[in-house]
Amino acid sequence: MIVIASSGGDVGIRQAVQVMQDGGNAIDAVEEGIRHVENNPDDVGVGLGGTPNLLGEVELDATIMDGATLQAGAVGSVKGYAHPISIARKVMEELWHVFLVGAGAERFAAEMGFEKTTVMSDRARERWRTSLQVDLGISDPAQLQQARELRHIGRLASYTTKVLGTVNFIARDEKGDICTGVSTSGLGLKYPGRISDSSVIGAGNYADNRYGAAACTGMGEISIRASSARSTVLYMKMGMSVEEACLEAMQDLDALVGDRHRGIHLIAMDKDGNHYGAANALDRTKHIYLTSEMNSFAEFEGHYAPFRTDPKMEPQSDTRDGMT
Ligand code: GLY
Repeated sequence: MIVIASSGGDVGIRQAVQVMQDGGNAIDAVEEGIRHVENNPDDVGVGLGGTPNLLGEVELDATIMDGATLQAGAVGSVKGYAHPISIARKVMEELWHVFLVGAGAERFAAEMGFEKTTVMSDRARERWRTSLQVDLGISDPAQLQQARELRHIGRLASYTTKVLGTVNFIARDEKGDICTGVSTSGLGLKYPGRISDSSVIGAGNYADNRYGAAACTGMGEISIRASSARSTVLYMKMGMSVEEACLEAMQDLDALVGDRHRGIHLIAMDKDGNHYGAANALDRTKHIYLTSEMNSFAEFEGHYAPFRTDPKMEPQSDTRDGMT
């Protein structure tokens, strides 16, 4: 039995392993671990501590994938519920759909008996106001509520905001079944309705018992464009080790033209429980792991894979916001 998690997962990794020691499976472990992170008010990128969008609303995204069956559940832009990972699990188990967003996801959460709550801490509201003022020069948030167009502000925000937090859990249980879960409030000051890779199966989350699993944190626009989690698993299917697969998936990002915010952290596990991680930001290469034989979790120092421009790609400038 093993659980690996991205940074921030420390508050739930022990409980995740415990669930499996008590007879639960990898899906139970992932849900349990992530719920602890979603409850952590100090985590500014997930659940109750999550960071709001441009308009000051916290919109949460999550996915869960069962590597034994390739069943998956996803929710995006959920307001008023603290545990999107549990709603995603119910989508996987109760519906024949995979992905619900916005009002539909909230309706489904209510149907499933989840408690509606205020997902906006005072600290998050304060951070939002400060970011608007310091990063974007907007001192009166009402200005935004009344704005006819947010797209230029949203674009600018994506270049300035420092808040980007997500949690990944990958668990492998006694039977060898693997499950992956991801939860986030997404990019701080995002355009309302923006969906992260954490909601998108194949981008930020993928699991297949036969080969392994992968999950991402960081700038979701990038892992969505490169299908990073699915690519990593596919590289393992093609015969690469978990380390080689991670590095190959990171190298895929070098071909993405036109975006200067390409920071992601990828963690992966092969079908036997070996794990690896890689990131293109020096301070984000670590993940944590815990097995049933260990007393406390340990850190794994992953690979730093800085971006290089793929020589086969034509250099282009990104003019959507007038910046190049
Ligand atoms: N990976 C989370 C996000 O892009 O918001």
